[in-house]
Amino acid sequence: MNFSALLLVALSSIATTTAFLPLPQAHPNVLRISTSSSPSDVLVALEMASRQATKWEKKQKWLEGRGLSAEATDSDGESSNAVNIIIAGAPASGKGTQCEIIKEEYGIVHLSTGDMLRAAVAAGTDVGVKAKEYMDGGKLVPDEVIIGIIRDRLEEEDCKTQGWLLDGFPRTAAQAAALAEAGCKADCFLFLDVPDEILVERVVGRRTDPETGKIYHMTFSPPDAEDEALIARLEHRSDDTEEKVVVRLEQFHTNVAAVKGSYEDIMVSIDGNRSPTDVSKDISESISAALAKRA
Ligand code: AP5
Repeated sequence: MNFSALLLVALSSIATTTAFLPLPQAHPNVLRISTSSSPSDVLVALEMASRQATKWEKKQKWLEGRGLSAEATDSDGESSNAVNIIIAGAPASGKGTQCEIIKEEYGIVHLSTGDMLRAAVAAGTDVGVKAKEYMDGGKLVPDEVIIGIIRDRLEEEDCKTQGWLLDGFPRTAAQAAALAEAGCKADCFLFLDVPDEILVERVVGRRTDPETGKIYHMTFSPPDAEDEALIARLEHRSDDTEEKVVVRLEQFHTNVAAVKGSYEDIMVSIDGNRSPTDVSKDISESISAALAKRA
Protein backbone atom coordinates (compact mmCIF):
# COMPACT_ATOMS: atom_id res chain seq x y z
CA MET A 1 0.00 0.00 0.00
CA ASN A 2 1.46 3.42 -0.91
CA PHE A 3 1.75 6.26 1.64
CA SER A 4 -1.38 8.17 0.49
CA ALA A 5 -3.51 5.05 0.79
CA LEU A 6 -2.05 4.31 4.22
CA LEU A 7 -2.77 7.88 5.35
CA LEU A 8 -6.35 7.59 4.14
CA VAL A 9 -6.86 4.34 6.07
CA ALA A 10 -5.40 5.91 9.23
CA LEU A 11 -7.56 9.03 8.90
CA SER A 12 -10.75 7.09 8.29
CA SER A 13 -10.01 4.89 11.29
CA ILE A 14 -9.76 8.00 13.49
CA ALA A 15 -12.88 9.46 11.89
CA THR A 16 -14.76 6.24 12.71
CA THR A 17 -13.75 6.36 16.38
CA THR A 18 -14.81 10.00 16.69
CA ALA A 19 -17.90 9.94 14.46
CA PHE A 20 -20.38 9.85 17.32
CA LEU A 21 -18.99 12.82 19.20
CA PRO A 22 -18.73 16.54 18.44
CA LEU A 23 -15.21 17.64 17.41
CA PRO A 24 -14.49 21.01 19.06
CA GLN A 25 -11.33 23.11 18.57
CA ALA A 26 -9.71 21.53 21.63
CA HIS A 27 -9.90 18.00 20.19
CA PRO A 28 -6.37 16.58 20.09
CA ASN A 29 -6.63 15.46 16.43
CA VAL A 30 -7.08 19.08 15.36
CA LEU A 31 -3.98 20.21 17.20
CA ARG A 32 -1.27 17.68 16.41
CA ILE A 33 -0.95 17.00 12.66
CA SER A 34 1.58 19.10 10.74
CA THR A 35 1.72 19.25 6.92
CA SER A 36 5.54 19.56 6.91
CA SER A 37 6.09 16.21 8.62
CA SER A 38 7.64 13.18 6.92
CA PRO A 39 5.37 10.17 6.15
CA SER A 40 6.62 8.23 9.17
CA ASP A 41 6.27 11.29 11.44
CA VAL A 42 2.69 11.74 10.22
CA LEU A 43 1.87 8.13 11.00
CA VAL A 44 3.36 8.45 14.48
CA ALA A 45 1.39 11.68 15.00
CA LEU A 46 -1.79 9.97 13.84
CA GLU A 47 -1.22 7.06 16.20
CA MET A 48 -0.64 9.47 19.12
CA ALA A 49 -3.62 11.61 18.12
CA SER A 50 -5.81 8.53 17.99
CA ARG A 51 -4.78 7.56 21.53
CA GLN A 52 -5.31 11.13 22.76
CA ALA A 53 -8.71 11.18 21.07
CA THR A 54 -9.73 8.01 22.90
CA LYS A 55 -8.71 9.53 26.24
CA TRP A 56 -10.47 12.79 25.37
CA GLU A 57 -13.65 10.92 24.48
CA LYS A 58 -13.44 8.87 27.69
CA LYS A 59 -13.13 12.06 29.70
CA GLN A 60 -16.04 13.73 27.90
CA LYS A 61 -18.27 10.68 28.47
CA TRP A 62 -17.16 10.49 32.09
CA LEU A 63 -17.94 14.19 32.63
CA GLU A 64 -21.26 13.96 30.77
CA GLY A 65 -22.24 10.92 32.86
CA ARG A 66 -21.90 13.11 35.93
CA GLY A 67 -23.80 16.04 34.49
CA LEU A 68 -20.55 17.98 33.99
CA SER A 69 -20.74 18.61 30.28
CA ALA A 70 -21.43 22.29 30.87
CA GLU A 71 -18.10 23.92 30.09
CA ALA A 72 -16.14 25.82 32.72
CA THR A 73 -14.05 28.88 31.87
CA ASP A 74 -10.27 28.98 32.17
CA SER A 75 -8.10 31.90 33.31
CA ASP A 76 -8.13 33.46 29.82
CA GLY A 77 -11.89 33.35 29.69
CA GLU A 78 -11.71 30.53 27.11
CA SER A 79 -14.11 27.65 27.22
CA SER A 80 -12.66 24.61 29.00
CA ASN A 81 -13.79 21.73 31.19
CA ALA A 82 -10.22 20.71 32.03
CA VAL A 83 -9.60 18.97 35.35
CA ASN A 84 -6.78 20.42 37.48
CA ILE A 85 -5.29 18.36 40.30
CA ILE A 86 -2.43 18.71 42.78
CA ILE A 87 -1.02 15.57 44.40
CA ALA A 88 1.25 15.93 47.42
CA GLY A 89 2.91 13.76 50.03
CA ALA A 90 6.28 12.85 51.49
CA PRO A 91 9.12 11.37 49.41
CA ALA A 92 8.06 7.92 48.15
CA SER A 93 4.49 8.30 49.43
CA GLY A 94 3.30 7.01 46.03
CA LYS A 95 2.64 10.24 44.09
CA GLY A 96 4.30 9.06 40.88
CA THR A 97 2.67 5.63 41.07
CA GLN A 98 -0.80 7.17 41.41
CA CYS A 99 -0.11 9.79 38.72
CA GLU A 100 0.43 7.00 36.18
CA ILE A 101 -3.15 5.88 36.86
CA ILE A 102 -4.73 9.36 37.11
CA LYS A 103 -3.26 10.65 33.85
CA GLU A 104 -4.43 7.54 32.05
CA GLU A 105 -7.94 7.84 33.45
CA TYR A 106 -8.44 11.57 32.85
CA GLY A 107 -6.10 12.23 29.92
CA ILE A 108 -4.59 15.20 31.74
CA VAL A 109 -1.03 16.56 31.52
CA HIS A 110 1.23 15.12 34.25
CA LEU A 111 3.86 17.59 35.44
CA SER A 112 6.36 16.08 37.88
CA THR A 113 8.83 18.71 39.05
CA GLY A 114 11.24 15.95 40.15
CA ASP A 115 11.21 14.43 36.62
CA MET A 116 11.54 17.86 35.00
CA LEU A 117 14.52 18.73 37.18
CA ARG A 118 16.20 15.35 36.61
CA ALA A 119 15.78 15.86 32.84
CA ALA A 120 17.36 19.33 33.16
CA VAL A 121 20.29 17.89 35.14
CA ALA A 122 20.80 15.14 32.53
CA ALA A 123 20.71 17.71 29.71
CA GLY A 124 23.15 20.01 31.54
CA THR A 125 20.92 23.10 31.15
CA ASP A 126 21.39 26.21 33.34
CA VAL A 127 18.48 25.11 35.50
CA GLY A 128 19.97 21.61 35.75
CA VAL A 129 23.35 22.94 36.82
CA LYS A 130 21.72 25.10 39.52
CA ALA A 131 19.43 22.29 40.72
CA LYS A 132 21.97 19.47 40.84
CA GLU A 133 23.75 20.31 44.10
CA TYR A 134 20.44 20.72 45.95
CA MET A 135 18.97 17.50 44.57
CA ASP A 136 22.13 15.52 45.26
CA GLY A 137 21.96 16.68 48.88
CA GLY A 138 18.23 15.82 49.19
CA LYS A 139 17.36 19.52 49.61
CA LEU A 140 14.66 21.51 47.84
CA VAL A 141 15.88 23.60 44.92
CA PRO A 142 15.31 27.35 45.46
CA ASP A 143 11.80 28.63 44.79
CA GLU A 144 12.99 31.06 42.12
CA VAL A 145 14.45 28.20 40.06
CA ILE A 146 11.33 26.05 40.00
CA ILE A 147 8.46 28.57 40.03
CA GLY A 148 9.24 30.07 36.61
CA ILE A 149 9.48 26.63 34.98
CA ILE A 150 6.08 25.53 36.24
CA ARG A 151 4.37 28.83 35.50
CA ASP A 152 5.61 28.75 31.90
CA ARG A 153 4.59 25.14 31.44
CA LEU A 154 1.06 25.73 32.75
CA GLU A 155 0.66 28.51 30.17
CA GLU A 156 1.02 25.99 27.35
CA GLU A 157 -2.04 25.01 25.34
CA ASP A 158 -2.17 21.32 26.36
CA CYS A 159 -2.41 22.22 30.06
CA LYS A 160 -5.22 24.66 29.36
CA THR A 161 -7.27 22.30 27.20
CA GLN A 162 -6.53 18.90 28.78
CA GLY A 163 -6.06 20.02 32.39
CA TRP A 164 -3.01 19.44 34.61
CA LEU A 165 -1.81 17.12 37.33
CA LEU A 166 0.89 18.72 39.48
CA ASP A 167 3.14 16.17 41.18
CA GLY A 168 5.70 17.58 43.63
CA PHE A 169 4.63 21.21 43.25
CA PRO A 170 3.92 23.33 45.25
CA ARG A 171 6.25 22.27 48.07
CA THR A 172 6.60 25.59 49.89
CA ALA A 173 4.29 28.44 50.86
CA ALA A 174 6.02 30.67 48.27
CA GLN A 175 5.34 28.12 45.51
CA ALA A 176 1.66 27.87 46.50
CA ALA A 177 1.37 31.67 46.49
CA ALA A 178 3.02 31.88 43.04
CA LEU A 179 0.55 29.36 41.64
CA ALA A 180 -2.40 31.35 43.00
CA GLU A 181 -0.95 34.62 41.64
CA ALA A 182 -0.68 33.00 38.20
CA GLY A 183 -4.43 32.25 38.38
CA CYS A 184 -3.86 28.47 38.34
CA LYS A 185 -6.68 27.01 40.40
CA ALA A 186 -6.87 23.32 41.29
CA ASP A 187 -10.12 21.37 41.59
CA CYS A 188 -8.66 19.21 44.34
CA PHE A 189 -5.53 18.79 46.43
CA LEU A 190 -4.81 15.12 47.16
CA PHE A 191 -2.51 14.44 50.11
CA LEU A 192 -1.03 10.93 50.45
CA ASP A 193 -0.46 10.18 54.10
CA VAL A 194 2.23 7.55 54.83
CA PRO A 195 4.26 7.10 58.06
CA ASP A 196 7.97 7.98 57.80
CA GLU A 197 9.18 4.50 58.75
CA ILE A 198 7.39 2.98 55.71
CA LEU A 199 8.86 5.59 53.35
CA VAL A 200 12.50 4.60 53.92
CA GLU A 201 11.90 1.04 52.68
CA ARG A 202 9.98 2.37 49.67
CA VAL A 203 12.79 4.74 48.73
CA VAL A 204 15.58 2.21 48.98
CA GLY A 205 13.74 -0.43 46.91
CA ARG A 206 12.50 1.89 44.15
CA ARG A 207 13.70 1.40 40.56
CA THR A 208 12.56 3.26 37.43
CA ASP A 209 12.48 2.16 33.80
CA PRO A 210 14.13 5.00 31.82
CA GLU A 211 12.38 3.91 28.61
CA THR A 212 8.78 3.94 29.84
CA GLY A 213 9.06 5.95 33.09
CA LYS A 214 7.31 3.08 34.90
CA ILE A 215 8.05 2.89 38.63
CA TYR A 216 8.87 -0.45 40.29
CA HIS A 217 9.75 -1.60 43.78
CA MET A 218 12.02 -4.62 44.13
CA THR A 219 9.73 -6.07 46.84
CA PHE A 220 6.30 -4.43 46.56
CA SER A 221 5.98 -4.04 42.81
CA PRO A 222 8.83 -6.03 41.21
CA PRO A 223 9.62 -6.15 37.48
CA ASP A 224 8.98 -9.36 35.54
CA ALA A 225 11.86 -11.63 36.66
CA GLU A 226 12.12 -13.11 33.13
CA ASP A 227 12.44 -9.75 31.40
CA GLU A 228 16.24 -9.53 31.50
CA ALA A 229 16.43 -6.45 29.26
CA LEU A 230 14.10 -4.51 31.55
CA ILE A 231 15.97 -5.56 34.70
CA ALA A 232 19.30 -4.55 33.14
CA ARG A 233 18.12 -1.02 32.28
CA LEU A 234 16.31 -0.22 35.58
CA GLU A 235 17.70 2.87 37.31
CA HIS A 236 18.20 3.58 41.00
CA ARG A 237 17.94 7.31 41.75
CA SER A 238 21.04 8.81 43.35
CA ASP A 239 18.90 10.46 46.09
CA ASP A 240 17.18 7.16 46.94
CA THR A 241 19.47 6.24 49.83
CA GLU A 242 18.75 5.92 53.56
CA GLU A 243 21.07 8.84 54.25
CA LYS A 244 19.43 11.22 51.76
CA VAL A 245 15.87 10.30 52.56
CA VAL A 246 16.45 11.63 56.09
CA VAL A 247 17.24 15.08 54.64
CA ARG A 248 14.33 14.85 52.16
CA LEU A 249 11.93 14.02 54.99
CA GLU A 250 13.23 16.97 57.05
CA GLN A 251 12.57 19.31 54.14
CA PHE A 252 9.11 17.84 53.71
CA HIS A 253 8.14 18.21 57.38
CA THR A 254 9.41 21.79 57.49
CA ASN A 255 7.10 22.88 54.67
CA VAL A 256 4.09 20.56 54.63
CA ALA A 257 1.86 22.46 57.08
CA ALA A 258 2.16 25.70 55.08
CA VAL A 259 1.37 23.96 51.80
CA LYS A 260 -1.62 22.11 53.24
CA GLY A 261 -2.81 25.36 54.78
CA SER A 262 -2.96 26.93 51.31
CA TYR A 263 -5.47 24.30 50.11
CA GLU A 264 -7.64 23.62 53.17
CA ASP A 265 -10.86 24.11 51.20
CA ILE A 266 -10.02 21.52 48.52
CA MET A 267 -7.74 19.13 50.44
CA VAL A 268 -8.48 15.41 50.73
CA SER A 269 -6.15 13.38 52.92
CA ILE A 270 -5.80 9.78 51.73
CA ASP A 271 -4.26 6.87 53.64
CA GLY A 272 -1.36 5.99 51.33
CA ASN A 273 -0.20 3.06 53.44
CA ARG A 274 -2.37 0.55 51.60
CA SER A 275 -2.17 -1.26 48.28
CA PRO A 276 -1.84 1.05 45.23
CA THR A 277 -5.26 -0.23 44.04
CA ASP A 278 -6.99 0.77 47.28
CA VAL A 279 -5.29 4.16 47.26
CA SER A 280 -6.31 4.66 43.64
CA LYS A 281 -9.95 3.88 44.41
CA ASP A 282 -10.07 6.63 47.05
CA ILE A 283 -8.35 9.04 44.68
CA SER A 284 -10.94 8.40 41.96
CA GLU A 285 -13.78 8.97 44.40
CA SER A 286 -12.18 12.17 45.67
CA ILE A 287 -11.75 13.56 42.16
CA SER A 288 -15.37 12.68 41.30
CA ALA A 289 -16.58 14.43 44.45
CA ALA A 290 -14.50 17.54 43.66
CA LEU A 291 -15.85 17.70 40.11
CA ALA A 292 -19.41 17.19 41.28
CA LYS A 293 -18.96 20.23 43.56
CA ARG A 294 -17.68 22.24 40.61
CA ALA A 295 -20.84 21.48 38.64
P1 AP5 B 1 10.73 14.16 43.46
O1 AP5 B 1 11.17 13.36 42.34
O2 AP5 B 1 9.44 14.87 43.39
O3 AP5 B 1 10.81 13.24 44.75
P2 AP5 B 1 9.84 13.08 46.01
O4 AP5 B 1 8.83 14.08 46.32
O5 AP5 B 1 10.83 12.84 47.07
O6 AP5 B 1 8.92 11.94 45.60
P3 AP5 B 1 9.37 10.63 45.02
O7 AP5 B 1 9.52 10.73 43.53
O8 AP5 B 1 10.58 10.16 45.78
O9 AP5 B 1 8.21 9.62 45.44
P4 AP5 B 1 6.72 9.42 44.99
O10 AP5 B 1 5.81 9.99 46.03
O11 AP5 B 1 6.51 9.85 43.58
O12 AP5 B 1 6.63 7.83 45.14
P5 AP5 B 1 6.63 6.67 44.03
O13 AP5 B 1 5.29 6.57 43.40
O14 AP5 B 1 7.81 6.78 43.13
O15 AP5 B 1 11.82 15.28 43.81
C1 AP5 B 1 13.21 14.97 43.82
C2 AP5 B 1 14.00 16.20 44.18
O16 AP5 B 1 13.76 17.26 43.22
C3 AP5 B 1 13.65 16.86 45.53
O17 AP5 B 1 14.34 16.25 46.60
C4 AP5 B 1 14.11 18.31 45.28
O18 AP5 B 1 15.50 18.42 45.37
C5 AP5 B 1 13.72 18.55 43.85
N1 AP5 B 1 12.36 19.11 43.70
C6 AP5 B 1 11.30 18.52 43.08
N2 AP5 B 1 10.22 19.32 43.13
C7 AP5 B 1 10.60 20.44 43.79
C8 AP5 B 1 9.92 21.63 44.16
N3 AP5 B 1 8.61 21.84 43.87
N4 AP5 B 1 10.61 22.57 44.85
C9 AP5 B 1 11.91 22.40 45.15
N5 AP5 B 1 12.61 21.29 44.83
C10 AP5 B 1 11.96 20.31 44.15
O19 AP5 B 1 6.78 5.40 44.99
C11 AP5 B 1 7.97 5.16 45.69
C12 AP5 B 1 8.22 3.64 45.77
O20 AP5 B 1 7.20 3.04 46.56
C13 AP5 B 1 8.19 2.95 44.41
O21 AP5 B 1 9.14 1.93 44.40
C14 AP5 B 1 6.77 2.34 44.31
O22 AP5 B 1 6.73 1.17 43.54
C15 AP5 B 1 6.44 2.08 45.79
N6 AP5 B 1 5.03 2.28 46.09
C16 AP5 B 1 4.21 3.26 45.62
N7 AP5 B 1 2.98 3.13 46.16
C17 AP5 B 1 3.04 2.07 46.99
C18 AP5 B 1 2.07 1.43 47.86
N8 AP5 B 1 0.82 1.89 47.94
N9 AP5 B 1 2.46 0.36 48.57
C19 AP5 B 1 3.76 -0.11 48.48
N10 AP5 B 1 4.70 0.44 47.68
C20 AP5 B 1 4.34 1.53 46.96
